[in-house]
Amino acid sequence: MNPRIPRQALPAEAGAIARLVGRCVPRCLPVTAKEVADGIGNWFVIGPPGSPRAAASLESLPEGDLELRSVAVDPEWQGDGLGARVVRAACIEAQRRGRELLCVTTTPAFFQLQGFERAEDSRLPEKDARKELPLSARRHVMRRRVHFSGKEQRRGSLTCSA
Ligand SMILES: CC(C)(COP(=O)(O)OP(=O)(O)OC[C@H]1O[C@@H](n2cnc3c(N)ncnc32)[C@H](O)[C@@H]1OP(=O)(O)O)[C@@H](O)C(=O)NCCC(=O)NCCS
Repeated sequence: MNPRIPRQALPAEAGAIARLVGRCVPRCLPVTAKEVADGIGNWFVIGPPGSPRAAASLESLPEGDLELRSVAVDPEWQGDGLGARVVRAACIEAQRRGRELLCVTTTPAFFQLQGFERAEDSRLPEKDARKELPLSARRHVMRRRVHFSGKEQRRGSLTCSA
């Protein structure tokens, strides 16, 4: 298994994913191993089985769009293209489902490099429940349209669906 190719997370990796996201707090919101395990089919990872180096989850929103959450790269592996790869995998899955991809982030510049643009906060009204969290003051809602070029699709390397 190529350790740089995004793949679907394994149920046994729930704890490791929660620890990985935990290493990226407060940039990411913490998640528990149970929360990851309960939605394991939504998680993409990059890394050897049992040792994810990058992770992200793709959640369905009530309106039918998709939300990209918990984009996290182990600090030891940051700056090596893994974040871009895991986001690209999510974009390809969103494209496959014909859905827009939204995210709430403290790092809008990173997401802009991945083809996202600023969106209205009202697109994610259920996020109001998170207002008490320290991230909220710095959060930005971003949107990735479903259309992207053939070149981008060729560069995407997702080997399984989310
Ligand atoms: C932000 C994060 C996901 C980026 O992942 P990464 O693997 O380090 O980034 P990559 O190596 O794939 O970088 C891809 C591009 O984004 C840029 N980039 C990376 N981190 C960035 C940041 N915080 N702000 C702006 N640009 C950034 C890189 O310079 C690179 O640009 P290039 O294509 O012009 O060379 C990672 O640093 C991380 O997990 N940070 C902590 C958690 C977090 O902030 N998550 C996102 C919010 S939920």
